[in-house]
Amino acid sequence: MPEIPVTSITICMGSSCFSRGNSRNIEVVQEFLKAQNLPPAVALNGHLCEGHCKSGPNVTINGKIYHEVDPIVIIGLLNHFVPKP
Ligand code: FES
Repeated sequence: MPEIPVTSITICMGSSCFSRGNSRNIEVVQEFLKAQNLPPAVALNGHLCEGHCKSGPNVTINGKIYHEVDPIVIIGLLNHFVPKP
């Protein structure tokens, strides 16, 4: 049986990223996943500040960090990376 690829989404929950937009971005991600029936191939996590505050809010998808992520950008990333059910 082929392994299901896992999309890893990690949202910076440090105070700078959180207050500058990730508090909303995490809600957008949760709503998106819920609307898609929570695809099992998505791992959603948070992490503490990693020192890139100036370019935040930061979101990491599959190991690549995306900067200045707002709700429009996150929807675009989700549409690109989350496998369709
Ligand atoms: S708070 Fe996100 S990198 Fe510092």
